[in-house]
Amino acid sequence: MSGWLEIKKSVLERIKPSRAEEITLNEVGEQVSEKINSILKMEGIKGVAEIHGSVPHGTWIRGQMDIDVFIVLDTYQEREQLAEALNAIRKHTDWEFTEAWAEHPYLQTEIEGYYLDIVPCFRARNEERIKSSTDRTPLHTKWLKKRLVRRGDEVRLLKQFLKVVGIYGAEIKVGGFSGYLCELLIIKYRSFKGLIEAASGWGDKVVIRFNDETREFDDPLVVYDPVDSSRNVASALREESYNLFISAVKAFRDNPSERFFTFDETPVDVDELMETIGERSLVFIVIEESKAEVPDTLWGQLRRSTGAIEKQLEMQGFDVIKSTVWSNEKTRHILAYMLVSAHRTQMIKHYGPPARLEKNVETFLEIYTDNPSVVSGPDIEDNRWFVVLFREHTRVKDTIDTLLEDGGLSSGVSRRIAVRILQHHRVLLGKAIGPYLIEGFERHLAKFIRGRPFWVE
Ligand code: UTP
Ligand code: MN
Repeated sequence: MSGWLEIKKSVLERIKPSRAEEITLNEVGEQVSEKINSILKMEGIKGVAEIHGSVPHGTWIRGQMDIDVFIVLDTYQEREQLAEALNAIRKHTDWEFTEAWAEHPYLQTEIEGYYLDIVPCFRARNEERIKSSTDRTPLHTKWLKKRLVRRGDEVRLLKQFLKVVGIYGAEIKVGGFSGYLCELLIIKYRSFKGLIEAASGWGDKVVIRFNDETREFDDPLVVYDPVDSSRNVASALREESYNLFISAVKAFRDNPSERFFTFDETPVDVDELMETIGERSLVFIVIEESKAEVPDTLWGQLRRSTGAIEKQLEMQGFDVIKSTVWSNEKTRHILAYMLVSAHRTQMIKHYGPPARLEKNVETFLEIYTDNPSVVSGPDIEDNRWFVVLFREHTRVKDTIDTLLEDGGLSSGVSRRIAVRILQHHRVLLGKAIGPYLIEGFERHLAKFIRGRPFWVE
């Protein structure tokens, strides 16, 4: 990796937080902790506010405005304590909260321009004592403390690399590497460069241990959580992200450049994009949202619904090349499909049972004799019955309109998304998507159509 030291220096100049930033972050964290601690005391709740995550780990990237505040409760009696702790905070502050309950209750608020996640958990002395999913977090900070010394910048380089590649974050939207996973990888391989060298050789499966865990996981990358042997820290990493990572790593090893740490911010040329859209067979489902779910829940629903409709289109004679979903997470979701053709064939050859399966043949003939959609048959070819059917409509828009008559529910669309679809949606073909090429959807779509990672040249 020639020139790496120069690249590293230059990238760190951009992404390493200033001393002033560090001081302010810590001050805000302390202020909030003090406030929470006084509330806990007032309400007789035994516990303490602690800051965890990338700020105390020294691995956050410049300009990050997120602080992870944990309310660590002394003793577990019942799960309800988590919500009670949050209610106490709500009662005694004028902070404006967004409630975010994916599977674990927590609150989000903004104070002096900083976004705070306020997460309750129970104090766990060791892994047997873990009562809720976030109880591990304080153990993480403790485990990392000595091991991350002087390695913060290496983690930052890795995070920035993953962000630019588009696979940073364990949330469902991304399916990539969590911050904690980055920290563990750097501890394992000592530096960003060390990780690049190792990961260039990663194959179908990689297992990383800090202790002597034995439990098996099905995931391509297994990194045992050093504070909880039953957990794979990389479980949210999708196979696609894993493979993208290795591809990017190899490209970087062969040709290190600052491009891997720099977001492409050139604005999308919408006219050019419109032209490309006109030359492809693209169909879109635009859904207006009124009250979106917590992002992880929402993206889960969106991904499932997009896949369900794709499967239906395939079954109904459309050749779907690929699909994607975009959302601003508040007011609008857009499902997009790239097809071989926006039309299916007018005729379809439909095979029935083998000629000697008497019972099945009987049913087949019952259905297709005197059936108005049959243009030829039922007839025998080799050992099978078949008919040629005529399709009422051939346009993908008509098929989708039919599929969405019940909001897509019977096709496998998530119930909540189906309700939104029934209330307000549009099916748009090709260039009709024009007015929606805003808010970042234009960039998402341009990338989807181009379909080539920036390092593949
Ligand atoms: P964050 O998602 O805020 O990540 O989780 P981070 O490590 O602070 O990284 P950035 O810089 O904000 O992106 C905070 C803590 O919550 C636990 C970890 O202990 C992490 O340090 N956590 C979070 C997990 O264990 N797994 C997750 O998927 C997410
Ligand atoms: Mn964080």
